[in-house]
Amino acid sequence: MYTITGDYALPYLRQRQGNIINVSSLVGTIGQKDAAPYVATKGAIISMTKAMAVDESRYNVRVNCISPGNVLTPLWEELAGQTPDAAAAIKMGENAQVLHGRLVQALSFSCGSLRFASSFKAADLTIEHNKACNPKPDPSTLVFGKHFSDHMLIINWSQENGWETPQIKPFQNLSLHPASSALHYSIELFEGMKAFRGVDSHIRLFRPMLNMERMHRSAARSCLPLFDKGELLECIRKLVEVDREWVPYSQDASLYIRPTFIGTEPSLGVSRAGKAMLFVIIGPVGPYFATGSFNPVSLLADPSFVRAWKGGVGAYKMGGNYGPTIAVQNEALERGCQQVLWLYGDDEQITEVGTMNLFIYWTNEKGERELVTPPLDGIILPGVTRQSLLDLARAWGEFKVTERTMGMKELLGALDAGRILEVFGAGTACVVCPVGSLLYKGKTYQIPTMKNGPDLAKRFFKDLTDIQVSAPQRCFTLR
Ligand SMILES: Cc1ncc(COP(=O)(O)O)c(C=O)c1O
Repeated sequence: MYTITGDYALPYLRQRQGNIINVSSLVGTIGQKDAAPYVATKGAIISMTKAMAVDESRYNVRVNCISPGNVLTPLWEELAGQTPDAAAAIKMGENAQVLHGRLVQALSFSCGSLRFASSFKAADLTIEHNKACNPKPDPSTLVFGKHFSDHMLIINWSQENGWETPQIKPFQNLSLHPASSALHYSIELFEGMKAFRGVDSHIRLFRPMLNMERMHRSAARSCLPLFDKGELLECIRKLVEVDREWVPYSQDASLYIRPTFIGTEPSLGVSRAGKAMLFVIIGPVGPYFATGSFNPVSLLADPSFVRAWKGGVGAYKMGGNYGPTIAVQNEALERGCQQVLWLYGDDEQITEVGTMNLFIYWTNEKGERELVTPPLDGIILPGVTRQSLLDLARAWGEFKVTERTMGMKELLGALDAGRILEVFGAGTACVVCPVGSLLYKGKTYQIPTMKNGPDLAKRFFKDLTDIQVSAPQRCFTLR
């Protein structure tokens, strides 16, 4: 197979760029009983794909491998026909499918492969400069999400033609068909990331590939077309370059980047969108806290409200996860709290706070200092800041770091025993946000976060903001 690809396909692909999609099998990864030679050939294709991907990346040829489970092909039917009960053999194949409980159809498999193969390319990007640029706001007056730069990135996709070339255009309104699937069925997802002007005046994005990967996962879950994460990041980098004067000349402010992906299918009916638009808007934002001062927030913890659930889409950054939380946030404000602490399940697991991941720094039952945060079990968003705090804390190696669930009972018990040191949220907007109190079942519980410094929250804030503006060679990738 390598000889055929190498002799016949690669010479052409290397000249024109392109994709190779090898087809292996799930058994190449997980194995199968009584089928060692078959499994070995499938495993070989997976390994060959990895090696070719490394070799061919220098020619802009992408090499991927799809490893499906059982696909209903004429061969499968023929083999089933040779068993005493063909229908039972096919049923057994269906039952073996983990995801859908049915055999993959050859047509949907090839459509999926096509979606997988195509991507726009940053090298094809066209730029139309804005002739009426706006004045930049004073960094000290910035309000989140109210200011936008002079340009935006737009990339359209359709089932018939695949991805169109990416375009940087003057910032403008969108024109959408009123039946667009984003408007009716919430086929919409987004990202939130930042670019910083460093003390060396270089502009850097903070761990942007983590956002690209999360966006890619959200796109797959929304049945929107996939794309090359590196190509999207390069398009975003060029957009920031075009609007570089919009990156605030201030160490307290930054440029917020909002990649967005919507279904623009112009017909009603709940089905996969045949048209889609990926766009990116950017704008300057101010500091969440005035430098040095941390304002603790009060939380409403009411188990009758649920943000996400097992098997749902809480781990994806889809617009549909956010709209319904506004009423609960209003309820919190009415009850004198600033944010919502989202609980889940009969044991009232602590999950997230507002739109931030949650951290608890305490002395555990064994008397050890420990930083606890809920695990990535599908209910919470895998935050870039969460990952960064975990990476930092593990690199320091000074206390135990644990990803595990904690229920309200355990938290309140530890609070009562004086073992809770700091509770704080973590997210791109604020980096870290201390929690001062909790309203639960009519009673307000004071959390001693501020009394304890908050030493850890402040250290995280300082180390992370230092990395963002001044120390690119520390533990994170910045570009
Ligand atoms: C629900 C939710 N949890 C957590 C986060 C924090 O994620 P990140 O650190 O990537 O900003 C966000 C950020 O927007 C969020 O919306």
